[in-house]
Amino acid sequence: MSRREIQIKTSRASAAYDITIEAGSLVSIGRWVATSTERGSRVAVVSNEKVFGLYGEAVVAELKHAGFPVSTHLIGDGERFKNLTTLGRTLESLGEAGITRTDAVIALGGGVVGDLAGFAAATYLRGIAFYQVPTTLLSMIDSSVGGKTGVNTSWGKNTVGAFYQPHAVLIDPAVLATLPKRELTARFCEAVKHGAIGGRRMLMNVRRLLAEHPVRTLSDNLETVGDKLAELIAEQVEFKASIVRGDERESTSNTSAKSRKILNFGHTFAHALEHVTRYRRFRHGEAVGYGILFAGQLSKRLELCNNDDIELLYDVVGKVGGLPPSASIDPRDVLASFKHDKKEVSGSLQFILLRSIGKPVIINENDIPPGMVLDSIKAVIHK
Ligand SMILES: NC(=O)c1ccc[n+]([C@@H]2O[C@H](COP(=O)([O-])OP(=O)(O)OC[C@H]3O[C@@H](n4cnc5c(N)ncnc54)[C@H](O)[C@@H]3O)[C@@H](O)[C@H]2O)c1
Ligand SMILES: [Zn+2]
Repeated sequence: MSRREIQIKTSRASAAYDITIEAGSLVSIGRWVATSTERGSRVAVVSNEKVFGLYGEAVVAELKHAGFPVSTHLIGDGERFKNLTTLGRTLESLGEAGITRTDAVIALGGGVVGDLAGFAAATYLRGIAFYQVPTTLLSMIDSSVGGKTGVNTSWGKNTVGAFYQPHAVLIDPAVLATLPKRELTARFCEAVKHGAIGGRRMLMNVRRLLAEHPVRTLSDNLETVGDKLAELIAEQVEFKASIVRGDERESTSNTSAKSRKILNFGHTFAHALEHVTRYRRFRHGEAVGYGILFAGQLSKRLELCNNDDIELLYDVVGKVGGLPPSASIDPRDVLASFKHDKKEVSGSLQFILLRSIGKPVIINENDIPPGMVLDSIKAVIHK
């Protein structure tokens, strides 16, 4: 299988970094780290028990073999551990392991581990080298690119954090084989989101992969699908990189179609749906699936986008499949929950909608006729 290298440029030339995508590459992690960190430096692997139980031993052995003394710090599994308490413990464990400014942190896990370990690396001794080794589809195509790190607090998700670029990112799609199927399905909705705002070719590539290899059997066939999946991941990473390059710190005043805000496509609705179901019924990605359909409905009603494009969106979300039913949710509760979305700017909501596939547009709620948002919600969750 082939190896793909993508260079991510940032506003500071010294902070540019490479993303390597290659099936089976985890076993060469030692040599990979050695290309940018001196052998003999200490390396702290931050992970959780589940992921570490699957891949930790091999990773640690490879790092040691390449000449890096290794310490490990395992955090709890799940979003609820992405918090200040875990951050504090992680920083203390780095201190106890004697990590110095010339040493490095490796995040081995999904977005939860990556966000938390990245923020720990950003703040420990005012910033030490940080490597991302994402192990979920979401962390591969989304959270490991763009430099957002942070934790949740009692007052909201991702409310404490920093923009901090990794030294490098290593993506081994083979590790997706052990990801629970529901996680894989849910996260494919984020790939559809990228396609919807990124362009027809990208969306059709997601559609083709899913048509040939339904998500429910995808991870059983990674030997044969691996290369196509690596190609899809590379395309998605390039797209995310192209957006964050132009708007590295998500400027609040930027409302252009190239603003980083467009990555929130489908997310205002998704957050509302997660909120009204108390974060129990939907995986985040599944809620994004519904959010994509909602954005499609609203775009159609505002006559921004033609019906063929909306049908294509429905088709691809349908190919991902596996969305839990939305019946019994009151559309008015979803509407009321929109106000909790932190993307709210100066008192009014901004919806990311579509003029066509690949042409997102940011519309202020004040520019939408009364009742149209509720009608669009009803069209999506009352079937
Ligand atoms: N920084 C960003 O730009 C950004 C962007 C999007 C999302 N996020 C954040 O990412 C987080 C979600 O990340 P996620 O979807 O990766 O979830 P996650 O990190 O919770 O991982 C999902 C589950 O899969 C398990 N797992 C991970 N890799 C595995 C593997 N290879 N085999 C078996 N099990 C495995 C984990 O232990 C966990 O139980 C959220 O906190 C979200 O806020 C950050
Ligand atoms: Zn998301």
